[in-house]
Amino acid sequence: MKKILVTGALGQIGSELVMKLREIYGANNVVATDIREADNEVVTSGPFEILNVLEANKMADIAKRHQVDTIMHLAALLSATAEANPQLAWNINMGGLMNALEVAREEHLQFFTPSSIGAFGPSTPKDNTPQDTLQRPTTMYGVNKVAGELLCDYYFAKFGVDTRGVRFPGLISYVAPPGGGTTDYAVEIYYEALRNKKYTSFIGKGTYMDMMYMPDAIDAIIRLMETDAGRLIHRNAFNVSAMSVAPEHFEAAIKKHIPEFTLQYKVDPLRQKIAESWPNSIDTTAAKQEWGFTTRYDLEKMTADMLEKLSVKLTKN
Ligand code: SER
Repeated sequence: MKKILVTGALGQIGSELVMKLREIYGANNVVATDIREADNEVVTSGPFEILNVLEANKMADIAKRHQVDTIMHLAALLSATAEANPQLAWNINMGGLMNALEVAREEHLQFFTPSSIGAFGPSTPKDNTPQDTLQRPTTMYGVNKVAGELLCDYYFAKFGVDTRGVRFPGLISYVAPPGGGTTDYAVEIYYEALRNKKYTSFIGKGTYMDMMYMPDAIDAIIRLMETDAGRLIHRNAFNVSAMSVAPEHFEAAIKKHIPEFTLQYKVDPLRQKIAESWPNSIDTTAAKQEWGFTTRYDLEKMTADMLEKLSVKLTKN
């Protein structure tokens, strides 16, 4: 991995991944692309190009022009947005992925794309969900993610493309908001704790989902991509997670820093149904064994860091 093209670079993962990659591999060796431009460091700190991932020729042209050897395909619609507009989600999530895989095949690129806990469904074992298990998701996002995992495996088996992926849980970060996901409550709760000392959760009490802090997610992507291919038994995609938590756990962790904080509930039926179809906790043994996956942040450590970084950010804005 020496020169990397990133799609969806202004999204929740891309905003931090691009900066970290530029730090490690050099600013000019990370080509950030997104469907829109924004006034931020991803655009100003290195090469940036506007790219709609449905424009296959343009994607290939950018990859060739910059002579990249790796593509990290992040552009996608998240679960709740996908559920509200399933046809659009199929087009963007599958069309974009297919275009990116084709560029990887033609240009002989290493390939990364994230899957998700959304790739599991109601018939999947809910606790300590195995790496290899039943995957019959009931959301359009989940259908896209399972199809995506299979398509990436297919491109490896059929064409030898070095495809790799992880099943991310809910990702918590203070840099860019997620937008349109079922786990977004776990980000909003920190913003509202600092702004108003209260939050109304759209996910019900006692609803467990896996979560992870963004610095651990970024490290996981880079570590997986840098692993010697010979060590990988699985490829698309590895279970990764740092914690299995429900809204009341965030409440308790935040209260240690902001004692007046209160949490209320107004459950959104669409997102609650999605959450209930996903696992409570996933087993990350394969990722640990095959490429040394680790995390640095548990709920307490993440909460302390989130509140500290976010309060600086909110004071500036
Ligand atoms: N965070 C994502 C979502 O909620 C899960 O992949 O859609």
